[in-house]
Amino acid sequence: MKKILVTGGAGFIGSNYINYTLTHRDDVEIVNLDKLTYAGNLENLKPVEGKKNYHFVKGDITNKELVDYIFRKFEIKHVINFAAESHVDRSILGSEIFYSTNVIGTNVLLEASRRFEVERFLQISTDEVYGSLGPEGFFTEKTPLDPSSPYSSSKAAADMMVQAFHHTYGMPTLITRCSNNYGQLQFPEKLIPLMIINIMNDKKLPVYGDGLNVRDWIYVYDHNRAVDLVMEKGKPGEVYNIGAEREMKNIEIVKLLLNSLGKTEDLIEYVKDRPGHDRRYAIDASKIKNELGWQPAYEFETAIDETVKWYLDNKPWWENILSGDYKNYYNLQYGN
Ligand code: NAD
Ligand code: DAU
Repeated sequence: MKKILVTGGAGFIGSNYINYTLTHRDDVEIVNLDKLTYAGNLENLKPVEGKKNYHFVKGDITNKELVDYIFRKFEIKHVINFAAESHVDRSILGSEIFYSTNVIGTNVLLEASRRFEVERFLQISTDEVYGSLGPEGFFTEKTPLDPSSPYSSSKAAADMMVQAFHHTYGMPTLITRCSNNYGQLQFPEKLIPLMIINIMNDKKLPVYGDGLNVRDWIYVYDHNRAVDLVMEKGKPGEVYNIGAEREMKNIEIVKLLLNSLGKTEDLIEYVKDRPGHDRRYAIDASKIKNELGWQPAYEFETAIDETVKWYLDNKPWWENILSGDYKNYYNLQYGN
């Protein structure tokens, strides 16, 4: 049985990863360490609750004693670090927690991984570490790091630390840098779920600046299939970009969602731009495709329809978030 420490497994991508992995594989045991910040929601993990090969620990990745305890108790040899403060707008309002979790927290995990001699340490990074592109070109793994927000700079710092642990100690590290994810269970502060829910509630749709910033979209299942593959077959010390070649302007996404939900464009409201707003992201994923044989399995059109349908069918999930009730779920399941 392969024992994996998954951090941040109650968030959007981590919970999709755990649900996917534990329903597709029975040779894996997962320990999910999550602080349950505003973004952590245990309701996301209903499909795996009670499974013998799933354990949840509420805690902070910056807590050395707790992290050591988990490595020892569960004999951890594999780590996937999803835990992060992940929202750019929040990092602009206050950066401290971003450097604490994303940099110090990653350092705590690396130090424990060194002492306990892990066989695989996968850092879930982001394409935002490369900064912003003009109208032409793509990010490759060789593109220099040039982060622009407190969020992306904290992720870039973590990436450099991970690389340093590989170079200095020979630690078998891996880094993935993925583009913008969408899908079920995404916290409704991010563009796609925010817009879907606002449209359903006939609320205004705040489009930053001129709405022409470009993001490269990937379905969360395709990201997690790539994570699985990199954990299994990735070469230690390497970085792998992940992306599905689906660039869209923000305004195109908003109009597509309005159309799909049968509402008109009067809901669109152009608002003040995000400070330091990156103009365009676009991923060249040829390395993971050529070296590990990964390909995205989903067409954007199908997956975005499934995503809209999921938010339509799962109103209680996001209503619990909007009301704050989702925070009671931990006490209901685990006591105070
Ligand atoms: P999220 O904000 O939905 O979830 C983050 C999770 O981490 C939450 O469950 C939260 O409680 C937990 N967490 C935060 N601080 C913690 C701490 N100190 N200790 C333990 N747990 C803590 O984020 P997400 O969108 O699922 O992103 C997951 C990872 O993927 C992040 O590292 C992010 O940088 C990266 N990423 C995200 C995207 C995207 O489009 N969302 C794209 C590429 C990479
Ligand atoms: O590229 C990967 C990154 O994608 C991840 O590393 C981050 O964790 C994740 O949050 C995401 O960052 P973005 O800043 O690209 O995502 P966000 O959903 O916040 O915004 C997407 C685009 O939409 C961006 O250009 C800003 C714009 N936007 C966003 C919001 C929330 C709006 O115009 N209006 C909005 O209300």
